[in-house]
Amino acid sequence: MIRSIVVLGAGTMGHGIAYGAAMGGFDTRLYDVSEEVLERSRSLINAIGAKAVELGKLSPNDFESARARLDFVTDLSAALSGVDMVIEAVPERMDLKLSVFQEVERHAPADAIVASNTSALSITEISSALTRAQRVAGMHFFNPVHKMKLVEVVCALETAPETMDVIEEVAKQMGKETVRIKESPGFVTSRVNAMIGNEAFYMLQQGIASARDIDKALKLGLNHPMGPFELVDLVGLDTRLSVLEFLHAKLGEKYRPCPLLVEYVQAGRLGKKVGRGVYEY
Ligand SMILES: NC(=O)c1ccc[n+]([C@@H]2O[C@H](COP(=O)([O-])OP(=O)(O)OC[C@H]3O[C@@H](n4cnc5c(N)ncnc54)[C@H](O)[C@@H]3O)[C@@H](O)[C@H]2O)c1
Repeated sequence: MIRSIVVLGAGTMGHGIAYGAAMGGFDTRLYDVSEEVLERSRSLINAIGAKAVELGKLSPNDFESARARLDFVTDLSAALSGVDMVIEAVPERMDLKLSVFQEVERHAPADAIVASNTSALSITEISSALTRAQRVAGMHFFNPVHKMKLVEVVCALETAPETMDVIEEVAKQMGKETVRIKESPGFVTSRVNAMIGNEAFYMLQQGIASARDIDKALKLGLNHPMGPFELVDLVGLDTRLSVLEFLHAKLGEKYRPCPLLVEYVQAGRLGKKVGRGVYEY
């Protein structure tokens, strides 16, 4: 049974995961290499909780109890010591994930469950850093974690069925819904999303409709909360291109990035973050 969770990496995803874990009743430690990041996470978590209290979705007492269950730590061996479960959310680089997992092997109990929030890397490869790969699986949260309901639970080559069960149970206790997926590039969501986004670019390239009308069609006709171009502007066209290149390399021709998307990236139209993507901001 899982009582304590350590979240490794307190960035965009890590702080939201730690908030969810503390709210779910787990003794939670949030670890990062940077004190500054941890301080920022503390303020972000306070703001998320305060907003929920203001909206009447959370009682002040429950928020206080959750806060009391949450520690912010910069000592990795102390963070991992005696913990029941590890959720890794460090940057998306295999070398980094492997070195973090080596520390997990060194300092965490041998039977701790280990989950990675990777968006695309191979869980099977990441878990090679641990002697018991049966206890490792993917636990793919969505951004922003406190608002998004889904967790994709990803079964790697050696993941034990019990590991999948435990991770699903933890996700549920954090208020999430889960889907089970066999490890595969892009899981379910990124793969479908990249395909829709790429198809939208092909339609724009072929002059089938304007970007505004393609977005409007998917929102009003298919009930998507955002149009594919609004979404790609938010995600970053460069990020989307790298996802498509990865899917193209792994899964074949139907994921070949649309030439218009490639041109936009070459032109520096990377999305909202630079003030222009498909749209101007
Ligand atoms: N951002 C998203 O929308 C999103 C969605 C789903 C999954 N993910 C995945 O989640 C993971 C984290 O992404 P993010 O967007 O939160 O990244 P981020 O860059 O916002 O945060 C990563 C954090 O890890 C810290 N860090 C770096 N090296 C570390 C180490 N050795 N030990 C502990 N912490 C370390 C950094 O200081 C930083 O605070 C990635 O694998 C990413 O693919 C991201």
